[in-house]
Amino acid sequence: MKIYQIDSSARKEGSTSRELAKKLLNRIKKIGDEIIYRDLDDEMLFVSGLTESGMKIPEKEQTSEHKKMFELSDKLVVELKESDVIIISAPIYNFGPPATLKAWSDLAARVKETFEYTKDGNRVGLLKDKHVYLVITSGGTKVHSKEDFLTPWLIHVLNFFGIKKIDIIAADQMALDYEGSIKKAEEKINRLT
Ligand SMILES: Cc1cc2nc3c(=O)[nH]c(=O)nc-3n(C[C@H](O)[C@H](O)[C@H](O)COP(=O)(O)O)c2cc1C
Repeated sequence: MKIYQIDSSARKEGSTSRELAKKLLNRIKKIGDEIIYRDLDDEMLFVSGLTESGMKIPEKEQTSEHKKMFELSDKLVVELKESDVIIISAPIYNFGPPATLKAWSDLAARVKETFEYTKDGNRVGLLKDKHVYLVITSGGTKVHSKEDFLTPWLIHVLNFFGIKKIDIIAADQMALDYEGSIKKAEEKINRLT
């Protein structure tokens, strides 16, 4: 089994989302599993300098910046396609995702790779049979509340890629009850694994 772990907190030390994702990984992984790890805070590029309406630029018009962008995009697509289980950890930043996670989604959404349009114009996701665990943390925003735009957005993007099996582990409202919040998240990890 290939497990793909993606962390997105802008904080390396003392990050709850990273720590919970690590705990989850340690409970899921079995001898012989391959772990693919990506820290979005180490390397990310924003979609920029496009010349067409979609995510493409003719090869001969590509600058070295464009090439770097497509190289990273290709890598992210392969990582997604190859994985069986995906863990995404993300804190809520200003009611939505960290900018790096949004940028990741822009690079991961590639036509004929992660999604496509059928002849009738319907959208279909191309990533099948994957199980995603989302580890969401927040200071005061309650996950699934009307000010949480991260969780529904991320679920929608994953559904767009064809991923339907999604479990959520939330350590939310940590500023209100840190220990209670972590305990709830750890109990959910134990229940799910
Ligand atoms: C730039 C920024 C924006 C934030 N915005 C929110 C927010 O909108 N709602 C919220 O509940 N917490 C917000 N927080 C707090 C983080 O979600 C919270 O500290 C989270 O636990 C951080 O996860 P980490 O420990 O993995 O870094 C924000 C933190 C930062 C750095």
